[in-house]
Amino acid sequence: MNLPYAEPYKIKMVEQITKSTKKQRLEWIKEAKYNLFNLKSSQVFIDLLTDSGTGAMSDKQWSEMMIGDESYAGASSFYKMKDAIKKIFGFDYFLPTHQGRAAENVLFSAMIKEGDIVPGNSHFDTTKGHIEFRKAKAVDCTIDEAFDTTIEHPFKGNLDLQKLENVLKKYPKEKIPMIIVTITCNSSGGQPVSIQNMKDVKELAEKYEIPVFFDSARFAENAYFIKLREKEFADKTIKEIVTKMFKYSDGMTMSSKKDAIVNMGGFIAMRSEELYKKASVFNIMFEGFVTYGGMSGRDMNALAQGLDEATEFDYLESRVEQVALLGKRCVEFGIQIQKPFGGHAIFIDCKKFLPQLPKEQYIAQTLAIELYIEGGIRGVEIGTILADRDPETRENRYPELEFVRLAIPRRTYTNNHIEYVAAVLKNVFDRRNEITKGYSISYEAPIMRHFTVELEKI
Ligand code: F0G
Repeated sequence: MNLPYAEPYKIKMVEQITKSTKKQRLEWIKEAKYNLFNLKSSQVFIDLLTDSGTGAMSDKQWSEMMIGDESYAGASSFYKMKDAIKKIFGFDYFLPTHQGRAAENVLFSAMIKEGDIVPGNSHFDTTKGHIEFRKAKAVDCTIDEAFDTTIEHPFKGNLDLQKLENVLKKYPKEKIPMIIVTITCNSSGGQPVSIQNMKDVKELAEKYEIPVFFDSARFAENAYFIKLREKEFADKTIKEIVTKMFKYSDGMTMSSKKDAIVNMGGFIAMRSEELYKKASVFNIMFEGFVTYGGMSGRDMNALAQGLDEATEFDYLESRVEQVALLGKRCVEFGIQIQKPFGGHAIFIDCKKFLPQLPKEQYIAQTLAIELYIEGGIRGVEIGTILADRDPETRENRYPELEFVRLAIPRRTYTNNHIEYVAAVLKNVFDRRNEITKGYSISYEAPIMRHFTVELEKI
């Protein structure tokens, strides 16, 4: 018998989570104005809102916390992080930031101006937010297959080279400060980008003299999929694959809250000294001095250790397989989800789950609320509310896909928790025809409304 995968760690400390009743949850979600972000964590049993900053650090990371150097300038922790970044990604220059969007803020302040065009593969919402905030435009060049959840494609995060070249041809290079490749592509369902595609994008970018930046939050999960799905790399270690991937970029932004398995942190890394100098000014202004940029020394230490752990095959196998377990259960029940399963989350196709609901009633949000009421699970809407309004017309943008994302924190829940989540999904699926009404918005912020939106039941 082939031995199954098993987690390459054991549990040293536990944290209590509490169950609640359906009656309590009905009250709590109403009080929260039907926005799951407004719930207290104590009102949630299994929290799949995000895999960002919610992972469990290892004993080695915690011991690194004890020897953090909190010097304002030139801390040894900075150099530990610098060495880890050079070793894993190959970049000579880096700036720490307090999280991923801060990295975007600093880098984009140095590179993006009003009227610019930034092509990429379904930019993450903070990325798009930071582009649009500068009155520039994010153009989505993801392959069409990504938008059909029934199509099995090994690299649904890939960019469509034709779409990309059309953009590069249409605008002068002065208007295109960078191409952003998000690995894995969160917005299309935690879907990977192939090395071949990274290479092709880089070649095209060089032809038009445009730099390529990787939004790298889940780079290690992307590397794991490359090992499994891109034949040429089957025998390579994850670390070898990562080195290869980043050869096709000029720099990266990183939310370390994902694949560096820390609770807070981020960075920008790049090859160009000139860009480093330019971005340093903004880093000092927004984040902190260039050798800490919004991070404590101890957090930089834990981050450096986390990068090493997250780029090990056994860890990634147990991580991605746990996500796949939830995916397999959905398939068994007949629930349509984005396929192949994502690296960090399962994305439920809500238009197929609740075909009776009109899009104006926020289909994905309605399902996310039902899952909470049924079993105290907190997922997140990746649909019309998140897509926000068009910055020019102020009309609602209705995305092709309405998802509920169930993101699995790293090393946090057991497979029993996953089975519980699956049972909740099944119960809601069985009574899906009874869900005939959605929600309307009673309050929304002018940008990134999903965090603070308030809703009313129709
Ligand atoms: N890029 C990607 C692909 C992300 O998924 C995120 C965050 C960011 C950038 C921003 O990083 O949160 O550290 O500021 N994603 C989280 C999520 C919030 O739930 O998917 P951040």
